[in-house]
Formats: sequence, structure tokens, C-alpha cells
Amino acid sequence: MGARITLARGDITTQDVDAVVNAANSGLLGGGGVDGAIHRAGGPAILAACRELRATTLPDGLPTGQAVATTGGNLPAAHVIHTVGPVHAKREDRSELLASAYRESLRVADEIGARTVAFPAVSAGIYGWPMDDAARIAVGTVAATPTDVEEARFVLFGDEAYDAFRRAVDALD
Ligand code: APR
Repeated sequence: MGARITLARGDITTQDVDAVVNAANSGLLGGGGVDGAIHRAGGPAILAACRELRATTLPDGLPTGQAVATTGGNLPAAHVIHTVGPVHAKREDRSELLASAYRESLRVADEIGARTVAFPAVSAGIYGWPMDDAARIAVGTVAATPTDVEEARFVLFGDEAYDAFRRAVDALD
């Protein structure tokens, strides 16, 4: 069964869900955008857990398209699922890596028993992915991935992102 897809506007760190997906980088040690917001709002426990991963199972960091869970720290969400989206490139189609980031985030959500998951528009910020295409890949992948997650909530910053995801959801039927 697939997850019910919902859309919300605003700050992903405030969402009262089981898990929040972070648009991380491979280093897993923080950054700007969603990454910065999650570490700021979630507090040092998240970074400590990321450091532990780097010191043990992920010595070379988290590869693009993969996902890993940590504590949610002070967030309403119990868990953060860190995933690394691809940097947009004109000469190379990295769509499959972006789809993998969503698919792997759902797989990790199933592993930790998360039933409600908030997703940002991965790669559509600092990593430069055009919003309409990012929304198409995000919504299409989540809609097509069997998972025990009941709600996949895309949390969008601003009208451009929200409208792009609304169009992608409307195009599903
Ligand atoms: N809540 C929801 N959405 C947000 C928030 C927030 N608090 N902050 C930013 N966004 C939006 C951005 O406007 C964009 O649409 O999330 C989308 C993803 O943007 P980024 O966070 O820049 O993520 P990404 O494009 O995947 O770039 C990842 O940026 O922050 C660094 O460490 C991160 O190196 C990594 C890179």
C-alpha cells in the first residue's frame, strides 16, 4: 500500500509527525536550508548522533540517494531521516538519484516504524533542482513506493514550491 500524500506550507521543523526528512549533504554534519533549520530546532543531540554515524557505520559519509535515521532531538518528531539529494546538473540526468532519496527515506521510515513522515523539496534549494521537476519526481516516487507509512506530508516553503507540488499531485490521477 502507498502513503496518503498531503501538502503543507511552512517550516518542516514544526511538523508533529513521527519522522522529519532532512535534505542533508553527504558529510552529515549540518549545513544551511532545511539542514540548518533541523539542527537549530532539534538541538545538539541530532549532530551528536550524526557524528556517531560518521565514527562508526558511515565513515565516508552518506552517499547521494541514501538515507539514515537519527533521533529528532528537541523536534516534535521523534526521528530525523537524513537523505542526500543530487546536485542538479544540466549535462547529466540525476533524476534516479533524487527518486532514490525519497524511496530510501520511506524504506528507513518503515524500518523505524514511522507512520507519518514530513518531506521537504529535496535538492530544490541550494542543490539547484528546478522546482517543477523536483516536485514531479518527489510526488511520483512517493506515490509509487509501497510502504507502511500512512501519511507522506510534503512541507513547502513559499508559493512557488507549494504550487509546483499541488500541480504534481493533481497530475497523479
Ligand atoms: N522547512 C521547509 N522547507 C525548507 C526549510 C524549512 N525550514 N528551509 C528551506 N526549505 C526549502 C527550500 O526553500 C527548498 O525549497 O527546502 C527545499 C530544499 O532546500 P535546501 O534545504 O537548500 O536543500 P537542498 O537543495 O537539498 O540542498 C542541500 O543544502 O543545507 C544544505 O547541508 C545541506 O549541503 C546540503 C544542501
